[in-house]
Amino acid sequence: MGFVVVKEADVKQQVKDAFQLAHNDAAEMFEGDRQEQYKSFKLEGIMEAPVGVCVTCDRLRNGPVVIGRTAIPEMDLYSTVCAVQNLWLAARAENLGLGWVSIIDNEALKEILAIPEHVVPIAYLCIGYVSHFHDNPELEKAGWLPRENIGELIHYTVGKWFYEVSVAEANASLPCDEGCSKPYRHEDFRCDCPGAADLFQLRRRWFHLFSEKLSRRFSQPF
Ligand SMILES: Cc1cc2nc3c(=O)[nH]c(=O)nc-3n(C[C@H](O)[C@H](O)[C@H](O)COP(=O)(O)O)c2cc1C
Repeated sequence: MGFVVVKEADVKQQVKDAFQLAHNDAAEMFEGDRQEQYKSFKLEGIMEAPVGVCVTCDRLRNGPVVIGRTAIPEMDLYSTVCAVQNLWLAARAENLGLGWVSIIDNEALKEILAIPEHVVPIAYLCIGYVSHFHDNPELEKAGWLPRENIGELIHYTVGKWFYEVSVAEANASLPCDEGCSKPYRHEDFRCDCPGAADLFQLRRRWFHLFSEKLSRRFSQPF
């Protein structure tokens, strides 16, 4: 990976112009009120930030056979994203704000920053002291997208998943569609009734039960 540090106002201005083009294109992709709301968001701080950093990935570094990239060649891109995250955490630990400007054409960025052909710009970051930090993400506050339910993002293998939920709870929450009183079998979560809901449906219901439990656990202070 590599880091291009941008401090000059004229270079920042070129990056800002490239952002503006991509931003205008993006606005056209939304319709009606959604488009107006999109246009009202401040989605970059290119000129305001004292430092811009373009984090890059040199895809030819260390030659064609690289340890850790033999099975998954794009691992170099992932590693570079990890560097972005580390930089982000370090910045926040120093009370600095960091914004990732992703509404920009990578080819334009390469040209402005004279990045060689085989090097991929991964992130253009704006770094600097900010007036304040929000308690919640701005897009969530604006009602653009809700926060994801963490329970729905975590998946377990069937065996582990089963053990997280007690049999009594599972049976209470999963009555057979046919009204039988048999407990559901552990292996595939279904009773023997011919008309009982299919496996997929049952798994979904188990999942919802489990995700509620998990959400409750995560909503407790650690
Ligand atoms: C992959 C990625 C791309 C992003 N792209 C943009 C962007 O183009 N414009 C923007 O305003 N915020 C973007 N963000 C969000 C901001 O960088 C960031 O969340 C915001 O500055 C608030 O910082 P905080 O999350 O540290 O509080 C992006 C975040 C990620 C993870």
